Amino acid sequence: MAVKITKIGSAALVIMHNPPVNAINKAIRLNLLEAVRELDKDNSVSYVIIAGEGNIFAAGADAREFDLPLAEPHLPDVLFAIENAQKPWVAAINGAALGGGLEIAMACLYRIACPKATLGLPEVTLGLIPGAGGTQRLPRLIGIADAVEMVSTGKPISAEMALKNGLINVVNSDPIAFASKLDIDELLAIDTVSRNENPTSDQAAIEAAKASVAKRARLQLAPPIAISLVEKTSALSFEEGMKEERNAFLKLRESSQAKALRYAFFSERGAKAPKEISKIDPIQVDTAIVVGGGNMGASIAYAMDGIGIETTVIETDQDAAERAKSNLDRLVDGALKRGKIIQEEADAQKKRLSVVVDYSELPKAQLAIEAAFEDIKVKKTIFRALEKALPENAILASNTSYLDLNEIAQSVSNPERVIGLHFFSPAHIMKLLEIVQADATSDLTLSTGYSLAKRLRKIPALSGVCDGFIGNRLLSRYREIADIIMMDGSNPWEVDEAMVNFGYAMGPYEVQDLSGLDIAYANRKRNEATRDPKRRYIPIADRMVNEGRLGRKTNVGWYRYPGGNGKVQDPLVEDLIIEESYFAKVERREFSEQEIQIRLLSAMINEAGAILEEGIAQSASDIDLVLVHGYGFPRWRGGPMFFADEIGLGKILDHIREFEKEDPIIWKPNALLVKLAESGKTFANFGKR
Ligand code: COA
Repeated sequence: MAVKITKIGSAALVIMHNPPVNAINKAIRLNLLEAVRELDKDNSVSYVIIAGEGNIFAAGADAREFDLPLAEPHLPDVLFAIENAQKPWVAAINGAALGGGLEIAMACLYRIACPKATLGLPEVTLGLIPGAGGTQRLPRLIGIADAVEMVSTGKPISAEMALKNGLINVVNSDPIAFASKLDIDELLAIDTVSRNENPTSDQAAIEAAKASVAKRARLQLAPPIAISLVEKTSALSFEEGMKEERNAFLKLRESSQAKALRYAFFSERGAKAPKEISKIDPIQVDTAIVVGGGNMGASIAYAMDGIGIETTVIETDQDAAERAKSNLDRLVDGALKRGKIIQEEADAQKKRLSVVVDYSELPKAQLAIEAAFEDIKVKKTIFRALEKALPENAILASNTSYLDLNEIAQSVSNPERVIGLHFFSPAHIMKLLEIVQADATSDLTLSTGYSLAKRLRKIPALSGVCDGFIGNRLLSRYREIADIIMMDGSNPWEVDEAMVNFGYAMGPYEVQDLSGLDIAYANRKRNEATRDPKRRYIPIADRMVNEGRLGRKTNVGWYRYPGGNGKVQDPLVEDLIIEESYFAKVERREFSEQEIQIRLLSAMINEAGAILEEGIAQSASDIDLVLVHGYGFPRWRGGPMFFADEIGLGKILDHIREFEKEDPIIWKPNALLVKLAESGKTFANFGKR
């Protein structure tokens, strides 16, 4: 049974049961409706307590059902029945009450939550709005300002906060026991939330929420709709509001944004070690080394330290060690200042972090992560030094973003213990961890990499060895085509604007200014000797670097940053581009926003096809996770592979074939893409997992 009913004194105890998170599916809805009917008839029951199995109340609607046709009974009808039952219903919130879970609780007359409970309406994070009265009951309970904040951000609040704003009546460590001692007469005197007075309008709060959403959730459909539904509660009757909410919910349920966000939600949770690896016990890491204390190394060390791993940073000399120390202190002090940690934690964190300059001073760590300069010789020297200094079974990881991990692995006598752990900057914040498996990497080493990702609460994506792994390899294609478009008639701001309007927070040129043009330059130089001489090469970025335009760090790159701030289009850059087009005898032409988007996306999708085909990525969803969590691809579009599957691989292939007529080398269609497109299949169908 999805719902179990027992007795506790004169109350009936209704427990929702759908492990692991009691997601509300058809069976729960049906059983709840039956429970209302049965218990109303049962004279031995004076009131009803509802709770969830285990330590969770209910995590909302079962998101897997959103891909199926609607099925009765619908949650709003079930909640109408609960709210209007003859026996009063009480919510004993024994853990997270999210989405439909909180909507059930709000349909009850009384709410008790345990101190650890979280309460929220996270539907917007799935491209939806609450669909069972959430937008209507919440403002009637806690007022417009707090309700609009919760509904438009989707962020849950604590039980303590819920008590303060009136969402719940009591916080108690044993909500069921507390509920079982309630006075029936007092319960009967409580009116339903839907009959509460309309909340007072609060235009300032609504405008603030709209402004925040316009910035934070630009181009997303659900958040503005959620705000408008909350706004209307001050004027519309409950019934009218419910009707509007339902209509909006049903439309959003079918939207491509909701589908993409659902896909992202399940891909993120599905990103785990492959089955055969998860069976192997990882090495327990409690002491680690980070080689290099620059911005990346320091933030990796800080992230490790944050989960209690004693971490030693090794630097080349005393000056560099001082800089590393101040980088680490800055991170800890920043967290203290923002209220993320208290002074004692900051002190303990600083104590766990140390900086040394000599390999002989290193502790016997189980793991070392090298985050030094991107130079293969430097990295090989470091790996040899680590091999000498650390126990022979210590895992040796490189944070390299482009270099050949197989070659690095060969520098030690036991390459099975070498792995790539490619963090993204800043490493303590960015969710993605590309786990790179070299030819010799052992299952134990991989298992330890995955275990570390889990402890760090990162989203792991497995990559094989190739230039740039999954993410940077795709980034190279994206930038290559952007440069070609620029050379053939556009400019950085048009390209950036097109991608921002697609949903990226920043276009490719603004991102380059932020990270520094010298990084990609160094890579191009590294690959110069092996570059296909027949492949079209755009020299504009090289000229920018040669002229000292390195981006924000020099206050001038693709844009100008007068005084280090702002972002101004630079006519000199346009002159430089036009000059290069002239040298290359290019007849410049206009590119529409849509064409820019299609070209950049098609280039990535084509390359992603090759990445899948070569087995560099194990699944399309891993590629999507990398692009969404490491490279700013809009999450509400799912990722490039999901996007391609949604539009249809046939259409993508048609575009690529059209572009191939201009440049058969750069636009050579990938064989896997062709095979899937011609057989009407999708990337999602393909893959080893
Ligand atoms: N529907 C279906 N499955 C769900 C679900 C939902 N609403 N919420 C969670 N799950 C599944 C996850 O996919 C995961 O499945 P898996 O074990 O097969 O990978 C499992 O439940 C555990 O979820 P996870 O997020 O890994 O656990 P957690 O303990 O870190 O977090 C929650 C628990 C409830 C906080 C978190 O799952 C969550 O926020 N869920 C979504 C809530 C939501 O958006 N509800 C509104 C739906 S419209």
